[in-house]
Amino acid sequence: MLDNPTETDTETASHIPHWYDPSSTGLTITDGQGTRVVDDEGEEYLDFVSQLYCVNAGHGNRAIVDAMKEQLERIQYVSSAKQTPARTELSERLAAVGPNSLSDVMFSVSGSEANELAMTVARKYADAPKILSRWRSYHGSTYGAGSVTGDPETRSSLESHASATGAVKFLPPMSYGSPFNAETPAELADAAADHLEFVIRNEGPETIAGILTEPIAGSSGAYTAPPGYFERVRELCDRYDILLIADEVITGFGRCGDWFGIQTEGVQPDVLTFAKGVTSAYAPLAGVMMRPDIAAHVRSDGFDLGQTFGGHPVGCAAGVAAIAEYDDGLIENVRATEDAFVDHLSMLERDHDVVADVRGRGFLHAVEFADPDTGEPFHDPRVDDGPNPVVDVVDAASDRGVLVGAGRPATQLILSPPLCATTDEIDTAVQSLDAAIDAVF
Ligand SMILES: Cc1ncc(COP(=O)(O)O)c(C=O)c1O
Repeated sequence: MLDNPTETDTETASHIPHWYDPSSTGLTITDGQGTRVVDDEGEEYLDFVSQLYCVNAGHGNRAIVDAMKEQLERIQYVSSAKQTPARTELSERLAAVGPNSLSDVMFSVSGSEANELAMTVARKYADAPKILSRWRSYHGSTYGAGSVTGDPETRSSLESHASATGAVKFLPPMSYGSPFNAETPAELADAAADHLEFVIRNEGPETIAGILTEPIAGSSGAYTAPPGYFERVRELCDRYDILLIADEVITGFGRCGDWFGIQTEGVQPDVLTFAKGVTSAYAPLAGVMMRPDIAAHVRSDGFDLGQTFGGHPVGCAAGVAAIAEYDDGLIENVRATEDAFVDHLSMLERDHDVVADVRGRGFLHAVEFADPDTGEPFHDPRVDDGPNPVVDVVDAASDRGVLVGAGRPATQLILSPPLCATTDEIDTAVQSLDAAIDAVF
């Protein structure tokens, strides 16, 4: 105990990790190469969650590291109020690989801040206060991004002491545990889109600036939308003059088999947010892409907000190199390996009656657990106290050398390996997960 609590005890002072769980000891990661990381005791792990769904090119990618070094040798920082070649080059690359509807880019630092920037731009452009987003979504943990996050744990942590305005939620088109009474994917698409239209009309379309949505739910459960859903969302946005904002923080940069998840849906967004994989997480960088007329609006009005580290040149250099790596075989590897990944995961569903659902796209998949007798989760963190066997599976997999994530809510595991993962590594990872499930249930 310190005599004077205002003094720092340098002997015991230490780092508090994010999403800190006092009951978990956590790992100390010291090294990484490709799909593998090493802890401080020399244990090796297959990183099947890409740390936080972000090290898309894998650890230790030489081309990205060299590009960052080169930028550091040239100029380390340039004011975010100025231009610099690394920013210009990355903007051009993003426009080339992004949806055709989008042209200009504004950079920020994190995914949360990119979503807040997108909301600010949309609200100014549409001159309307509200943003619609889905229950069962994750858009970040700062106040603004947290207000549109549908994940109850994030929202209750944030909103227990401050309320947010301008955020309205609608129900997602979930294929498992759906709140809609639909027999087929087509019925689900229609029911969910009809519900969205009800929410739009009920709120008053003229009060809504944008609909912010992940094309494939990320940490909330790797849900892909039923075919036709996003076309209906696009039609609703057009009919009611609302901007469609795609949150591609997880789904971007090849994770789901295309450059961006919304491209797979075949609809054009008005605004798109990105972070994580843009640099393969080698440096913090995020941003907002927008339609040319929205960009023209921002330019003509001016934009009197910013962030010191928005578009950091070293991050932009990493981004240019990472995009070249994705283009040079990594996205192709996701497409070529996806079927093997799905086959292996489907085995878990076949072999364990506690595995209730496997879903996802590309290198983003969820494994859902439920009591086979009741069809209910063993532990629903939203309503239950006490230990959660799904978290025990995460720990048991880690003990067997494989890192996977717990979804939000943690009724499910999320697997999202680096895009360089091979079929053999998938085989090893899923076998370890299989043993981990056996050990817990
Ligand atoms: C879909 C999505 N949007 C936004 C965010 C927030 O990004 P960040 O943690 O960089 O603020 C995340 C983070 O996991 C995310 O998954």
